[in-house]
Amino acid sequence: MTIDSSPALQQVRQWLQDAAHIAMLTGAGVSAESGVPTFRDAQTGLWAHFRPEDLATVDAFRRDPARVWDWYAERRVNMREVQPNAGHRAVADFQRRHPGRLTLATQNVDGLHQKAGSADVLALHGNIFEDQWLDPCALARRPQEGCSPAQAEPGRPPRCVQCGNLARPAVVWFGEMLPHDALGAAERAAARCNVMLVVGTSGAVYPAAGLAHVARAAGARVVIVNPHPSELDDWAHAVLPGTSAQLLPVLLDF
Ligand code: APR
Repeated sequence: MTIDSSPALQQVRQWLQDAAHIAMLTGAGVSAESGVPTFRDAQTGLWAHFRPEDLATVDAFRRDPARVWDWYAERRVNMREVQPNAGHRAVADFQRRHPGRLTLATQNVDGLHQKAGSADVLALHGNIFEDQWLDPCALARRPQEGCSPAQAEPGRPPRCVQCGNLARPAVVWFGEMLPHDALGAAERAAARCNVMLVVGTSGAVYPAAGLAHVARAAGARVVIVNPHPSELDDWAHAVLPGTSAQLLPVLLDF
């Protein structure tokens, strides 16, 4: 029996077809078949010597902005070249066919869901291609006033020409809060969905993984798609062992 004809998969397809609203949480696994290395896999060569805390925390950036900027510059170059896979495309196509029926939250910063054409992606961990200011502008009279345009210096993060503030990648680093609006919207979607699809995530990092618990507590079916065991398996109503590029086109083809 192939996975396509397994009773568990047919059951999940039925739940999805019956669902008025579907919430979805994705992680690094959905981009694996596009060739995006996970955070830890990307730590090769020169970078293998650093701990994640040396590269992806605000303290690390303050200590050595050029080193962290360099690490992100290299990841940006690599991520620009990758393309969405069949899993990303299946989600985007489904959203086009059924506007408003599926809310997508992702922990990925690679922008591949957006590149595939997904609508209103809730980027819980930010976007690696964007920058934000490290601190509030030292010269602003009102909190909403930002810094002046940034001045680029080769190999270093751009600086505000007025106050010297540094630009940093607009990703959520270890120990940082998730973007309030995106997390709130994802929690609301989890609380009102009929089915919560959790795809390609180890389910180990909170608060993102908590969305599955919110959905379950609200009475939704929780479904895991992952070729390997995840920390959320015990909470799920169904666990489909397979890859996202393999299974999402089958699950979302109606
Ligand atoms: N299809 C689906 N799942 C896959 C595939 C695939 N082709 N290949 C691997 N996986 C699964 C793995 O089995 C694993 O459970 O994807 C998961 C990836 O787990 P992590 O690397 O821990 O990624 P993620 O869960 O997204 O991590 C959460 O932690 O590193 C930080 O901030 C970073 O956003 C990230 C967060």
